[in-house]
Amino acid sequence: MKIAVIGCGYVGLVTGTCLANLGNDVVCVDIDRVKVEKLNNGVMPIYEPGLRDLVELNFSQGRLKFTDDLHEPVRQSDVIFIAVGTPSDNGRADLSYVFSAARDIASCMDSYKVIVVKSTVPPGTCSRVKDEVLKNLRSKVAFDVVSNPEFLREGEAIYDFMVPDRIVVGVDGDAARKIMLNIYKPIERTGRPILFTDIVSSELIKYASNAMLACRISFVNELSHLCEAVGADIKLVSKGVGLDSRIGSRFIQAGAGYGGSCFPKDVRALISIMKDRGLGTRLLEAVEGINESQKLFVVSKVRKLIGSDLSGKTVAVWGLAFKPKTDDMREAPSLVLISELQKLGACVVAFDPVAMGNAARLLNVGFASNPYDAVKGADCLVIITEWDEFRELDKARVKSLMRLPNILDARNIYEPGEMKAFGFKYESIGR
Ligand SMILES: NC(=O)c1ccc[n+]([C@@H]2O[C@H](COP(=O)([O-])OP(=O)(O)OC[C@H]3O[C@@H](n4cnc5c(N)ncnc54)[C@H](O)[C@@H]3O)[C@@H](O)[C@H]2O)c1
Repeated sequence: MKIAVIGCGYVGLVTGTCLANLGNDVVCVDIDRVKVEKLNNGVMPIYEPGLRDLVELNFSQGRLKFTDDLHEPVRQSDVIFIAVGTPSDNGRADLSYVFSAARDIASCMDSYKVIVVKSTVPPGTCSRVKDEVLKNLRSKVAFDVVSNPEFLREGEAIYDFMVPDRIVVGVDGDAARKIMLNIYKPIERTGRPILFTDIVSSELIKYASNAMLACRISFVNELSHLCEAVGADIKLVSKGVGLDSRIGSRFIQAGAGYGGSCFPKDVRALISIMKDRGLGTRLLEAVEGINESQKLFVVSKVRKLIGSDLSGKTVAVWGLAFKPKTDDMREAPSLVLISELQKLGACVVAFDPVAMGNAARLLNVGFASNPYDAVKGADCLVIITEWDEFRELDKARVKSLMRLPNILDARNIYEPGEMKAFGFKYESIGR
């Protein structure tokens, strides 16, 4: 099938590349010329494990192309995916990129197209996209608008696209339904389910999924405070709870709060969507509030270790991205931690395996070239992103390099008993 993907970000680039890998002819379009030039020169604009090889393979075999001009790709494609950003605008989803893409698509459509909204959008948006396309058509052309939200996780994006828990397609006509089934047939035949729904339900499934996951994280973070108060261990509590097959073990790890390009903005957007309809939002507001205070809770733990006044103190931070295996810094808990530490007078030296380039645009800190250089002369080490390479800690080396052996493990990756026995003053979350 001939496919155009509008937007070459974390979702669009992975979608386009995976669809090309399934044998489709794909053109990925982005208004960011620098990004397109990079991609045409084999340089990845984002870090995502396995993506470079897959892009190279499909690019070299001619199934995957990149351009900043959507005219030809739209004309030649049967299906056009919109995968542009929907960032937070005072809590609401900013849909301007989606509508702008819809107008651009309409202006060059000259035959039947299926327009697939992959971006995360509030219920009712696909219908507005349809209106926007209708208003901007140059000639009378038939088309369908389909909702197909994306559930991939950064860091596991290719696997998640190719082996998804489910594919959700909101559609209201047989022609578009058939085309969507054709696109996803190679994935469906490996046993992955496709759920066809009406369009509004599909739009809402995405927000509901992210809000549910955020809810679990805030629940466990709140519970971690009780664990500290009564002397329980949140890791054991989570394990015991997660072994219940009705609950499961994922997204119930206490830590520094959720971040990233989706959970914070999608929870806030869902709150706005509900408020606009006069509906109660107490649960979601609590989820959001607990998450904000959890980030500050991490700061209070640093103060517990090295005192309230941090002037003259050096804090080493391991991990900057909002989660391991990505360079995405959007709403990363490290941003709040570092800005608060700096307000309190601390000097911060940070290390992240892949996110330091993006972090440098947002933070004014010292960057170290490896984790051990970061802790040299530090009064405290904070682990804020649980990269695998931090798990096997050379304790003797870290202790000898630090000025004071204080560790705040905000992701609970070390064993408290072991750390204390080694002479660290060690704090973690809920243990
Ligand atoms: N990042 C994730 O993990 C993830 C997961 C699931 C869903 N989503 C959703 O997918 C959507 C995209 O997210 P992302 O993280 O890939 O965003 P992103 O910011 O990484 O990428 C968006 C891209 O769209 C381009 N763009 C904007 N307007 C354009 C236009 N008119 N024409 C062509 N290109 C245009 C931008 O230049 C940018 O490269 C969002 O709605 C997001 O909520 C993201």
